[in-house]
Amino acid sequence: MQDPKRYTITAALPYTNGPVHIGHLAGVYVPADIYARYLRLNDKEVAFVCGSDEHGVPITLKAKAEGTTPQAVVDKYHEIIKQSFQDFGITFDNYSRTSAKIHHETASEFFKDLYKHGKFIEETSAQLYDEKAKQFLADRFVVGTCPKCGFEESYGDQCENCGTSHNAKDLINPKSVITGNAPSLKETKHWYLPLNEYEKWLEEWILQGHKKDWKTNVLGQVKSWIDDGLKPRAVTRDLDWGIPVPVEGAEGKVLYVWFDAPIGYISSTKEWAEKTGKNWEPFWKDKETKLLHFIGKDNIVFHCIIFPSMLKAQGSYILPENVPANEFLNLEGNKISTSKNWAVWLHEYLQDFPEKQDVLRYVLTANAPETKDNDFTWKDFQARNNNELVAIFGNFVNRVVVLTNKYYNGVVPKAGTISEADQQAMDMMHQYPEIISKSLERFRFREALSELMNLARLGNKYLADEEPWKQIKTDPERVQTIMYVALQIASALSVLSEPFLPFTSKKLKEMLGLDQKTDLRWQTVGPDKVLLPADHTINKASLLFAKIEDAEIQKQIDKLEASKASNSEVTVEPQKQTISFEDFTKLDIRIGTILEAEKVPKTKKLLKLKVDVGIDTRTIVSGIAESFDPSDIIGQRVTVLINLAPRKLRGVESQGMILMSDTQDGKLSFIEPVGDTVANGEKVS
Ligand code: MF3
Ligand code: ZN
Repeated sequence: MQDPKRYTITAALPYTNGPVHIGHLAGVYVPADIYARYLRLNDKEVAFVCGSDEHGVPITLKAKAEGTTPQAVVDKYHEIIKQSFQDFGITFDNYSRTSAKIHHETASEFFKDLYKHGKFIEETSAQLYDEKAKQFLADRFVVGTCPKCGFEESYGDQCENCGTSHNAKDLINPKSVITGNAPSLKETKHWYLPLNEYEKWLEEWILQGHKKDWKTNVLGQVKSWIDDGLKPRAVTRDLDWGIPVPVEGAEGKVLYVWFDAPIGYISSTKEWAEKTGKNWEPFWKDKETKLLHFIGKDNIVFHCIIFPSMLKAQGSYILPENVPANEFLNLEGNKISTSKNWAVWLHEYLQDFPEKQDVLRYVLTANAPETKDNDFTWKDFQARNNNELVAIFGNFVNRVVVLTNKYYNGVVPKAGTISEADQQAMDMMHQYPEIISKSLERFRFREALSELMNLARLGNKYLADEEPWKQIKTDPERVQTIMYVALQIASALSVLSEPFLPFTSKKLKEMLGLDQKTDLRWQTVGPDKVLLPADHTINKASLLFAKIEDAEIQKQIDKLEASKASNSEVTVEPQKQTISFEDFTKLDIRIGTILEAEKVPKTKKLLKLKVDVGIDTRTIVSGIAESFDPSDIIGQRVTVLINLAPRKLRGVESQGMILMSDTQDGKLSFIEPVGDTVANGEKVS
C-alpha cells in the first residue's frame, strides 16, 4: 500500500498478571511507539491502541497464588502497567482493558455474528479434566511434554520452547497445574473455528502476497504452521473467568482468551472514537487504512493465522498489512521470567534511574531483538549511555549550546560565506529525514537509531574539524558561520530524535528555544526551512545525559544475583494452614528399619516393604519405586507414620506411611536419624 489514508497501530495487549519489564518494552511497545510518533510527525492520521488483557488462565492462577480474586489481580496490575507505559512515554491514543463493558459487548457481538453465519463447528468431545479440582484443564492449567519438540514443561496451548501452538489433549503425560494430578477425560461441548478451511487462503495472502515485505522470522513461523496443516481450534473454554459465550446452551463457558483479546484492539479503537468524537469504523474497515500489529514472537500464530481468519470469517474487516514481530530479549544471558523474578521491572527501573527513561528506550532500541534473540546486560547499558548518549549526542549538543551562550549571549549568529565544508555538512544533515525514514518504514529500528546517532556524529566531526574554540581568536567572523551551521544540526537532532528519545527531544527543544513552535515536523528538517534563524535566542545549557557510574551498575547486578539466589526458594510450596498442637500430637511417628522390599507387580511406583517399627514388624506399601531399587534399601533407617488408618493399595494392605522428602531433581529421599543411637520405635515429636 503506497500512501494509506490512515494507520491503525496495535501493540499486544499485555497480560495483567504482573508488571511489565524491559522485554515487553524492547519487543513491542518501544518500536510501536517510535513508529506511531514518526507517523504523527509526518502528519499521518494514526490510531495507536492497546489495553490490558485481563482474561485467561494465567490471571486465575495468579489470583490463586495470591489468595485473591481475578478481578483484584487485574485491577492492581492494570494500574501499574498503565502507569509504566505513561512513564516511558508510550503514546497510546487509547489504553483500554478487556474487562471494559465496551469490550465485552464488542467481543460478544463478534462471536454471535460468526455463530449466526455458521462460521463455527459445534462439537462435543472428551477433554482433559481434573477430578479433584472439578475443572476442565485447558491452556495454562495443564503442562506436559510437547509432542513436537519433547520439552517437558509445555503448556496446554503453547510450547514455550519451540513456539508450537497445540490443543491441551496433544500433550504427552499431561499434569494438572492446580493439583498436580494426571487428568482424566470428560465430555464437553465447544465451538471451533475451522482453521483448516482458511489454510489455502492464508497461504496465498501471506506466503505469496507478503513474502517480500514481512520479516523472515514471521514468514518462517507462518510457513511452518501451514506446512504442518491447520486444525479446527476451540474458541470457547469451560472456565468461570472471561466473557460468557453469548449463545444458548453455553452456560459456564467463556470465550477463549485468544478469541477475545485481539478483538480488544477493535474495542479500544471504539472507546477512543467515543471519547474523541471520531468514527472508529474506517480504522478497521476502510481498505485504505494500514493495519499494523506490533507483537513478540510468541504471538505470531495468533496475529498471522487465528485473528486474520476471524476477521476474514466476519468479512467486513481489513487485514494487517504487516506484523513486525520481534524475537525475545534475554537478561544477562538468561530468559526473562516473571515467575522467577528474572527481569528488570519498569517501575523499579524508574525508582533507581529516575528521569532516565530515554536511556532505557535508547539501549533497548539499539539492542532490539529484531531478527534474533538478544541479550540485555547492565554493562552494555552503562557503555551505551556513557560512550554513545553522553559522549556523542550529549557532548555535541552541550558544546553548541555552551559556545553559543559564551560567544553570542545565546543569540543565533548570522551566517557569512558558506564554505564547502559547511555546505557538505548541511547537505548531509538534510538527507537524514529520508535516511531514517527508509529504515523506519521497513521496521528496522536499530538501523534507524544508529542513523540518528550518525547525525550527532556528523555534528561532532564538523565541530572537531572547524575548531570554533580556536578560530574565535583569529577569525571571529568565520566562527559565526560555524556556530550557525552547528546550531542547525542541533535543531535537526531535536526534531528527528523525538520518536526515539522523546524526553530528550523535549529538553533539547527547550534549550534551543524551539519548544513553543507547533509546526515542527519530520520534513521541517530540509533545505527549504531554517529551524534556528539568526537573531533567535536559545537558552542556557542543561545536561541531556549523565555518566552512569560503576557503583550504580553493580547495584543492579547485585539485585539480579539476589533474585537468582532466592529462585530455588520460589519453587518451595507455600505453608499450609496452621494446625493446633493437639492436631499434631495425634500423629504417631516412629523410627524404623526396612527389613524387606519388593516391587508390587504391574505398578510403576509401588514397593511392598516389611518395616521394623519397634512395636512390631509391619507391611507398608510405599510409592518410592521410581527413586529406589528394592535391593538397595534393605537396612535403610526410616521415619514412619504408624497410626495412619490401614488402607489397601493394589490388593496389599498398607499399615503406615514412610515419610519422604522431595529432592531438587524430582526424586525422593529418606528421612533418617543421625547416628545409630536411635532405636527402632523411638518417637519423633
Ligand atoms: N496477552 C498476550 C501476551 O502477553 C498478548 C495478547 S495480544 C492480543 O502474550 F492480540 F490478543 F491482544
Ligand atoms: Zn515444543
